[in-house]
Order: sequence, then C-alpha cells, then structure tokens
Amino acid sequence: MNDDIKKILLTQEEIAAKVKELGDILSEEYRDKNPLVICVLKGAVLFMADLIRQMNIPCEMDFMAVSSYGSGTESSGMVKILKDLDTSVQNRHVLVVEDIMDSGLTLSRLVELLRHREAASVKVVTLLNKPERRKVDISPDYSGFTIPDEFVVGYGLDYAERYRNLPYIGVLKPEVYTK
Ligand code: XMP
Ligand code: MG
Repeated sequence: MNDDIKKILLTQEEIAAKVKELGDILSEEYRDKNPLVICVLKGAVLFMADLIRQMNIPCEMDFMAVSSYGSGTESSGMVKILKDLDTSVQNRHVLVVEDIMDSGLTLSRLVELLRHREAASVKVVTLLNKPERRKVDISPDYSGFTIPDEFVVGYGLDYAERYRNLPYIGVLKPEVYTK
C-alpha cells in the first residue's frame, strides 16, 4: 500500500499536533453549548474520532452520508442524502466535521440544509482545504491545513475506497490511477 504513495504530505505526528490545536480552539468556542458534532461519512471518520477526543467539553455526535450527483470526480452541487441525522438540529449549535473542502459545493449545500432546519448555529471544521479549487463562495470556519491541488489519500480519504486506513496523508503515484 505504501508503495502506491508518491510522497507524504502530512505525517501522523503533524496531523496529531494540528488536531490537538483545533480541539483546544473548539473546546473554548463550544464550552457550555453542548454542540452536535456531525461527521460527514466516510472520509471524516478518522478526523472526527481524534478531534472529539481533544474536545474536553460535553458534546454529542451524529453522522450523515451525502453524495454529489454528477459524473467523474467533479462535484455537481446537487447533494443527495444517503444517510440522514438521527438527531434534530433545531436550536442546536452544530459543528460539521469534514475531511476536505474542495469545490465547496458539498459543504455549502449541507450548511444551507442545516440552517433551513433551524440550527442555532452552523460551523464547519475541515482538516484539509484546497482553496484553489473553490467554485462557490464558502470557506471553512476552522481548517487544519491548506494544501495544493493534488489528489490526496489516507487518514480517512480514499481512492476507490482504498487507503482510508493510512495513518498519514499522501499523494498517490499517477500510475495507480491509470492501472
Ligand atoms: P467538494 O468539491 O464538494 O467535495 O468540496 C468535497 C469532497 O470531495 C472529495 N475530495 C477528495 N477525496 N482526495 C480524496 O480522497 C482528495 O484530494 C479529494 N478532494 C475532494 C471528498 O470526499 C470531499 O468530501
Ligand atoms: Mg468526503
């Protein structure tokens, strides 16, 4: 599996230090708010699990799975809900946890939906941010790392459902795509 990686972009240690930093900030921000922390499946699972362990405040978690309609690797902006929340967001402070903000289409739709459902507040924390690729006017409220426009895998992120379990984030060798 490691042979498929061209370079390591973020090591396990770098990720852990950043997650701790974000956890400290979010613990301050959400103290006494009992936030509903929403994990966007599946990519954000590892980040979510590590992040909430660095949030040393009461919080609840829930999960959502969405998919963008459209072909290929480009988001179309139409978001289909594959798994909805179990919890009502009405009057709750909601924190959406995502692996990566790319075009921004998925998160802009999701935030819109949660606001429509009358959440008290909706904020987004994303581990990775690719601002070069943005198609809509949105930026994460909290972001771990800004990365260049390269397809990355590991720490939850996949290529064809593989590599999610790598403990670091890396760039795939081009021959893996074309094989
Ligand atoms: P948008 O474009 O709506 O989409 O911001 C975000 C989703 O696209 C996926 N994505 C990636 N997945 N490596 C991945 O494994 C990447 O470099 C990458 N860029 C975007 C991801 O699922 C994210 O939730
Ligand atoms: Mg994702």
